[in-house]
Amino acid sequence: MLDYSTKNKVSIAPMMDWTDRHCRYFMRLLSPSAFLYTEMITAAAIHHGDSDRFLRFNKEEHPLALQLGGSDPAWMASATVKANEYAYDEININVGCPSDKVQSGQFGACLMATPDVVAECYRAMQGESDIPITVKTRIGIDDKDSYEFLVDFVGQLVEVGCRKFIVHARIAILDGLSPKDNRTIPPLNYERVYRLKRDFPQLEIVLNGGLADSEQVDEVLQHVDGAMIGRQAYHQPYFLAELEQHFDPNWTLPKRSDIVEQMLPYVESVLAVGEPLGRITRHMLGLYAGLPGARAWRRYISQHSHLKGAGPEVLLNAIAALPSAA
Ligand SMILES: Cc1cc2nc3c(=O)[nH]c(=O)nc-3n(C[C@H](O)[C@H](O)[C@H](O)COP(=O)(O)O)c2cc1C
Repeated sequence: MLDYSTKNKVSIAPMMDWTDRHCRYFMRLLSPSAFLYTEMITAAAIHHGDSDRFLRFNKEEHPLALQLGGSDPAWMASATVKANEYAYDEININVGCPSDKVQSGQFGACLMATPDVVAECYRAMQGESDIPITVKTRIGIDDKDSYEFLVDFVGQLVEVGCRKFIVHARIAILDGLSPKDNRTIPPLNYERVYRLKRDFPQLEIVLNGGLADSEQVDEVLQHVDGAMIGRQAYHQPYFLAELEQHFDPNWTLPKRSDIVEQMLPYVESVLAVGEPLGRITRHMLGLYAGLPGARAWRRYISQHSHLKGAGPEVLLNAIAALPSAA
């Protein structure tokens, strides 16, 4: 297996309801090298539900990490066993998501308070897997907002073998802030993540939070091993193509309309198994963001994707409806 972890400096964040396999297929066309993450899938869902529905993906999505949520070592291990059948490139444990739903299930950011539980999960999963198991975390939670707290958390995971940490560079406030506010209100503190890399140079440290342009990504990569991008990649997906070319000037920047054309066979294949067009096109709404045609594109796709019998022609017609400057 290729060592994707050292090759791919840019990754796309796990985002629930956003980074599903349709979205990832689209993002892969925009960025051949970015490391993609699934939305968080709970170990319980894999355990009780139709695991194939949650775990299957298109081979084009590689390199791809599965993000798991959970805190029961036995369930996390059994989810890992199931995941092995699908050849992911990494399995990531979610210790960063602050939603209420997540807290009541005892996983996500609240687990920063119990590193021993995360370590137990880690050990149980590692026993079932040959691919890297990694952890995505915050820099702290609530009043545990110190470098020492972060180091203690990371240290306990290092002891059981974790070598890659993705750190969202703000604390999570578990009581009183919505998940959305938790992505904007606690201030970003990149320096704490840089210090972690300085003190643990042997670890692979990926910084996440607030990255929106290539200059910022360049700056971050001076200090850590990787940069993870979330909302900017979703809202302005063409940024991914620009970033790809920034790092690989030999790569020819595709036109937006080329990307749309490359999506068409995929769209056909998804419609052929009975899924509606809107499940794919909803992820493409931002493709023309920042250009004069952005609104026309969004409007056309939104108005036509859900009509009965809607097919790939919706995308072609949406391109035809763009002003010529786009
Ligand atoms: C809609 C949405 C859903 C998210 N779902 C997850 C998730 O399932 N797992 C996770 O670890 N983080 C999740 N996050 C947080 C992102 O992975 C990322 O840490 C956060 O958005 C900060 O990065 P950004 O500033 O580049 O967006 C989500 C974020 C958004 C916007």
